[in-house]
Amino acid sequence: MKPIIAPSILAADFGNLQRDCEMVNASAAEWFHIDVMDGVFVPNISYGMPVISAIHTHAKKPLDVHLMIVQPERYIKEFKACGAAILTVHYEASTHLHRTFQAIKAEGMKAGVALNPHTPVSVLEDIAADADLILIMSVNPGFGGQKFIENTYKKVAQTKELVLRTNSKAIIEVDGGVTSANAKQLIDAGAQALVAGSFVFSAKDPIATISELRG
Ligand code: DX5
Ligand code: ZN
Repeated sequence: MKPIIAPSILAADFGNLQRDCEMVNASAAEWFHIDVMDGVFVPNISYGMPVISAIHTHAKKPLDVHLMIVQPERYIKEFKACGAAILTVHYEASTHLHRTFQAIKAEGMKAGVALNPHTPVSVLEDIAADADLILIMSVNPGFGGQKFIENTYKKVAQTKELVLRTNSKAIIEVDGGVTSANAKQLIDAGAQALVAGSFVFSAKDPIATISELRG
């Protein structure tokens, strides 16, 4: 099966958001990846609901929203209202993750959990079966254009084992430093969705680059 490609809009040209959304619409990408950063959970601030609403106006594909914010449970209804289809929160940022998942699903969205590079996959043992998506961070969250962390392959394989063992339906997604140099090895390890920001948007031909990532 070909992987889901989710171009990260963080690397788009914000002065030409409509143009870049239309590029993703015309490409083989399945999702738009939307990074929300609060300057507290991560040392950077990206964008919030008004910008996501604008992306949603032009996007013809689901919005895969990755919250890098503390206490993400405060804003679940707001992210639904601006167009999120998948809402992913960090394990490290949500004290009552099971309750957060229930609230996300009650709004009709898919619920995802993200793990920082230092967080072991084993912490998901009792929540994996409830997850629609598990996002393995392959860089420390906060910035695009960082170097891929090699330990990710092992974590993806461990996540696949956990998903199979717990009868979870979760999609395994990898985010950070993804390029055509590591995509195949990630897919072979069990990744089903790949986020790519700078590799796609800095390419001469982003549409061809998205197809190349799909393999
Ligand atoms: C990092 C974000 C990523 C980022 C990926 O904190 O979660 O989604 O946009 O960008 P690249 O592909 O450039 O590493
Ligand atoms: Zn992300």
